[in-house]
Amino acid sequence: MRGLKGKVGIIAGAARGIGAATAERLCAEGVKLVIADIMEDEVKAVAGRIGSDIVGVHLDGTQPSSQEALVAKALESYGRLDFYHSNLAGGTGEDSNAVDITDEALDNSLNINIKSHVLATRYAVPAMLETGGGSMIYTSSGSAISGENQRPAYAMTKNAIHALSRHVARKWGQKGIRANVICPGLIMTEAVSQFMTEKHIEGIKRHTPSHRLGQPSDIAGMVAFLASDDAAFVNGQAWHVNGGVIMRD
Ligand SMILES: NC(=O)c1ccc[n+]([C@@H]2O[C@H](COP(=O)([O-])OP(=O)(O)OC[C@H]3O[C@@H](n4cnc5c(N)ncnc54)[C@H](O)[C@@H]3O)[C@@H](O)[C@H]2O)c1
Repeated sequence: MRGLKGKVGIIAGAARGIGAATAERLCAEGVKLVIADIMEDEVKAVAGRIGSDIVGVHLDGTQPSSQEALVAKALESYGRLDFYHSNLAGGTGEDSNAVDITDEALDNSLNINIKSHVLATRYAVPAMLETGGGSMIYTSSGSAISGENQRPAYAMTKNAIHALSRHVARKWGQKGIRANVICPGLIMTEAVSQFMTEKHIEGIKRHTPSHRLGQPSDIAGMVAFLASDDAAFVNGQAWHVNGGVIMRD
């Protein structure tokens, strides 16, 4: 990837799955990283496994002070910030349907899946502006646009990130900030594969034009592109990475 080596980035939500695979890919590209997660031991273990120029830290993405400390850690460790991959998500357990969802489940989802991304933006954008700009990369989901019969809070909050990303692109684009959203299709991470049966897997493959299951490295490739200078003219867009399961203009 052109113009990626030597950049400094943050990945929030990197203890496993897509975030951990992205950390691995970016480090292989010569990026310096701070990776963060509410699962502190696990995220530190990921950093330890990958090796040099990577630090693992605790983050509660819903807390302003925790997001502020994360950005400060990147500045303290490497002196600048070039991109922030806001990848964390959660709170889908009780997300049943729009009639039955409890207030608690709804608030939880709004907090984790919207507020955390706004807080990431609040602290990352000013830090990136200090050195002429950078890239905000938010992980959304194909669910944001697909109209599911369950998980309404997940879909609504993921869709809200698209609006956030377009706002950031419009507001700070001329100052050097790019903001894009990645919408993964089904990706075989620990969080997903535990619920999959062989029958599910065969059904998914049958309906996937790129005839295989999605892997965390498929999303890592898109993050690498959006963080790099190859994406210097790419701003305010939603990128669907799903093997062709959903096709849109
Ligand atoms: N795997 C898929 O099929 C799929 C599909 C569409 C979208 N996504 C999105 O991709 C991203 C990663 O998914 P994944 O499958 O790797 O899931 P995952 O659950 O393994 O990763 C999410 C990470 O976020 C962390 N996290 C949750 N709440 C947090 C908080 N308050 N503060 C800090 N960290 C917190 C979790 O500990 C976890 O490590 C998520 O945004 C998810 O919605 C995944």
